[in-house]
Amino acid sequence: MSSMSARNPFRPTFGVSPTVLAGRDSLLQSFKLGLAEGPGSPFRALLISGSRGMGKTVLLNEFEDAAASQGWITLRAYPDNSMVDGLVNSAIPEALQNLDGPQSKRMLSGVAIPGIATVTAIADPTKKDPTPTLISRLRELATRLQKHGSGILITLDELQSANVDLLHVLATAVQDLLRDDFDIALVAAGLPEGIDRLLQHEGTTFIRRAERILLNPVNHEDSVEMFLDTAAEGQRHMTSEAAELAAQISKGYPYSMQLTGSLAWARSTLDNSDTIQAEQVDAVRDEVVRRMGMQVHEPSLHQVPDGELTILYAIAQLSKNGEMVSTGDIAHLMGVKPNALSMQRKQLLSRGLVEVPKYGFLNFTLPYMREHLLNSPHHRPIT
Ligand SMILES: Nc1ncnc2c1ncn2[C@@H]1O[C@H](COP(=O)(O)OP(=O)(O)OP(=O)(O)O)[C@@H](O)[C@H]1O
Ligand SMILES: [Mg+2]
Repeated sequence: MSSMSARNPFRPTFGVSPTVLAGRDSLLQSFKLGLAEGPGSPFRALLISGSRGMGKTVLLNEFEDAAASQGWITLRAYPDNSMVDGLVNSAIPEALQNLDGPQSKRMLSGVAIPGIATVTAIADPTKKDPTPTLISRLRELATRLQKHGSGILITLDELQSANVDLLHVLATAVQDLLRDDFDIALVAAGLPEGIDRLLQHEGTTFIRRAERILLNPVNHEDSVEMFLDTAAEGQRHMTSEAAELAAQISKGYPYSMQLTGSLAWARSTLDNSDTIQAEQVDAVRDEVVRRMGMQVHEPSLHQVPDGELTILYAIAQLSKNGEMVSTGDIAHLMGVKPNALSMQRKQLLSRGLVEVPKYGFLNFTLPYMREHLLNSPHHRPIT
């Protein structure tokens, strides 16, 4: 097959794993060690936080794969009002059934399962307090897995939407099993602001003590490597100048890395070139900015009231080349006293739209928000 017809290997889609994972090696290593280490490892309770599109869901999937390769099974918890019921009534019974079923060898790669076990009774849904049920179900599963030297990984994505009481039930159950030396791990992921809010509730002590992983942008070197390797996976050569430029444009933000790669790939297809060159990357720069605006920024601005929007426009106007802006300068531009902005500033921080790179300063959290705002038809320059 000619490389011109090869499929685009870049994946600019939320929740979809990239062809080549950039910059998460050491996290994965720590996680694998944690599973092998035993219930005393701090990596048995993990909290992954990161801005939108920073790669939380992808990392959770990687953790699930890593767990599977050590013979562990994954239970996915969903952050809705049936989070605990879902585990008790479907995920755990299914896992138990799979242990008995013909697929058990595949589920637990490389681990032989002696057959025949009791059929699992489905939990009584009329029960008021699900806590003992979740604990007893998990114990049953963990006891079965223990014989094979494997354990249970529970993952929870979009933690910020979880119900605090149910989270408490889940955390209590995991803690209970860990205390009794069962092989179990809990990994939850969500937006930093949402997680902070959640952790202020009582009853989240265990989660609060979890090891926290803040996902940062991918560093330049790892990013360059990802571009080269991903293109190569698609049977196309990317020059090192092209990869350097792509890394520079996408600023280490995983979603824009996939976007930049995908558009440069498409450009080279249109140019009938089986090499991706710097000119092709450069040619899609504006489209990257536009798409970031359409797909990431515009949706995140929908709910933002005018008062807060004005602050965002002020930052966009004052920021030179994306540099941070002092709150004093923002207030000055808006013609108000700095403390008049404190409520709105707090709201913007909790929405994850801006961050405090240094005391008294603000900047946008994600790349190209500034460009998006300045190009917006709603933008009226503040004078
Ligand atoms: N380590 C990585 N290397 C390369 N690409 C990545 C990496 N992590 C994520 N991506 C890509 O970035 C995009 C966003 O990833 P993901 O959906 O995991 O983000 P997220 O943090 O879960 O976003 P959200 O906050 O919307 O849930 C996807 O296109 C994915 O393929
Ligand atoms: Mg996600």
